[in-house]
Amino acid sequence: MDYTMEQYRASARAIQDRLGDFVPKVAMVLGSGLGYLGDEVENPIAIDYRDIPHFKASTAPGHKGRLVFGTLEGQRVAVMQGRMHHYEGYSYEAVSYAVRVLRLLGCDTLIVTNAAGCVNTEWKAGDLMLITDQIKMFSESPLRGENLPDFGVRFPDASHLYTSRLQALARETAQERGIPLREGVYFYCYGPQYETPAEVRAVRLLGGDAVGMSTAPEVIVAGHCGMEVLGLTLLSNMAAGILDQPLSEQEVLDAAAAAREKFSGLVRACLRKM
Ligand code: HPA
Repeated sequence: MDYTMEQYRASARAIQDRLGDFVPKVAMVLGSGLGYLGDEVENPIAIDYRDIPHFKASTAPGHKGRLVFGTLEGQRVAVMQGRMHHYEGYSYEAVSYAVRVLRLLGCDTLIVTNAAGCVNTEWKAGDLMLITDQIKMFSESPLRGENLPDFGVRFPDASHLYTSRLQALARETAQERGIPLREGVYFYCYGPQYETPAEVRAVRLLGGDAVGMSTAPEVIVAGHCGMEVLGLTLLSNMAAGILDQPLSEQEVLDAAAAAREKFSGLVRACLRKM
């Protein structure tokens, strides 16, 4: 365990002091290049991670590193413009620290988004995927160490990390808006190197449809503390070895920028119905 309950509470208190009587309900984590939704928040109160006690910096490209509180589609939101990753050198508990703080502030729902490699060869880069489940079994848990019972139990059930009700809501919303939405399993890999073609074949054999370097730790922590979770992936590129071309960060950011209207539109329409 890297953090004490007192540290989580101190972070929450520092943020609440800035928010006054505003109580957020829906926490959102915006992945690589997808931070634009944070700029659409109304009556925003933005707080840099570096101004919040115990928060780590977000150093990844396309990650602004700040929390934006306000309203979006009538929902009281807390938007993380940029997240922390294990490959930045942070423990899994540090990576998911903010989720617990947002839970303490009142959030009962988490929308996680990411850009990921597309492992499923039936699909194509640029598609959106509803995350139905995840695999993160080859790396340690963010819940490792002494359990903090104020958040949840020692051995939390993980049968429904991605809430069925929110999956149904996203499915229905995408259909109404005519946005094609794939559904599949997110497979977590450490990074920061992209996978080898052999690793991508292994991921496929093990049941992964998308591969990425984030999301899974935060979702484990959200499930532990009883939050409902909706996960949306932008399949920014075909995973390594599927096409005969190298992977690059620029490709990921370009795909995220190109998906802006579709991605923002879907998330906002889902928020409206939550
Ligand atoms: N692999 C891992 N993470 C990623 C990828 C990928 O192909 N694309 C975007 N994030």
